[in-house]
Amino acid sequence: MTVREMQDEILRLKKEKDICILAHTYQSQAVLEVADFTGDSYGLSVKASEVPQKGVILCGVRFMAETCKILNPEKRVWLSNSLAGCPMAEQMDAETLRELKKQYPDYTVVAYINTSAELKTECDVCVTSSSAVSICAALENDKILFIPDPNLGGYVAGKVPEKTFAFRDGGCPRHMAVTEEDADRARAAHPDALFLVHPECRPEVTAKADYVGSTTGIMDFAEKSGAREFLIGTENSIVEHLQFQCPEKKFYPVSPALTCPDMKLTTLADIYEILTGTGGEEIQLSDSVMEGAGRCIRRMVELGD
Ligand code: 13P
Ligand code: SF4
Repeated sequence: MTVREMQDEILRLKKEKDICILAHTYQSQAVLEVADFTGDSYGLSVKASEVPQKGVILCGVRFMAETCKILNPEKRVWLSNSLAGCPMAEQMDAETLRELKKQYPDYTVVAYINTSAELKTECDVCVTSSSAVSICAALENDKILFIPDPNLGGYVAGKVPEKTFAFRDGGCPRHMAVTEEDADRARAAHPDALFLVHPECRPEVTAKADYVGSTTGIMDFAEKSGAREFLIGTENSIVEHLQFQCPEKKFYPVSPALTCPDMKLTTLADIYEILTGTGGEEIQLSDSVMEGAGRCIRRMVELGD
């Protein structure tokens, strides 16, 4: 089968089986082309509870499929490739957080959505990179324990200076791989390019950015901007997607290290296998995780609107 034939077969099967495909923007171009909706973590969470289909294939990483299942308990939800995890989401377990909470008893625990469903049961509210600033600002408590990403947390703290934030070591190993020297080198090579950066990057990198935002934020900014050249400080698939969307503009990666191997695992064959019932992993969560993590995720959706 060619790529096009496989895509046509997927499009036919998903309609026949009443299944929706949601794909994070870090997925490959071939996967995005068969999706009903593509977006950042926040966009996918909102879309997950709006889609009419009775099944959802989430092309992304595990915490995204878990979020989709929690928001759609009555739907069948599959993770596109069962090996696709997020190393940051696995950095902290529930026991570690329980200990941490003892050190910060009067803090509201804000979890980046890049956390396991089990960890979310211990948190007060979730945020994504696009909703973190507004949600932290809207919380009644002026003390926030932000886990697990101190880079995103530090960025938010800078935007909400009236509140006190506490963090713990951690972060995305891919975005953290970008150094200040990488940014300087890329800027020197492309002096006319605007530098667009994800807040998971180190503070010394985001400090050099012309725009800081979620993956969708970066894509929207680049599309609407009158500039002609852009340096992309997030997963390198965004360089390719933007080049398709805006062929008259030029996009450059800031570092080859900004490649997320987990996001690269999903293939068209994985989706095809789920649709034909020959593979894939259906997300199953216990009632207590559905309930506890659901409270945390639904609070995000309420506060984010
Ligand atoms: P977004 O919230 O921008 O979708 O980012 C998710 C992610 O995993 C970034 O590395
Ligand atoms: Fe997780 Fe980083 Fe990959 Fe995003 S880029 S899924 S935060 S490891």
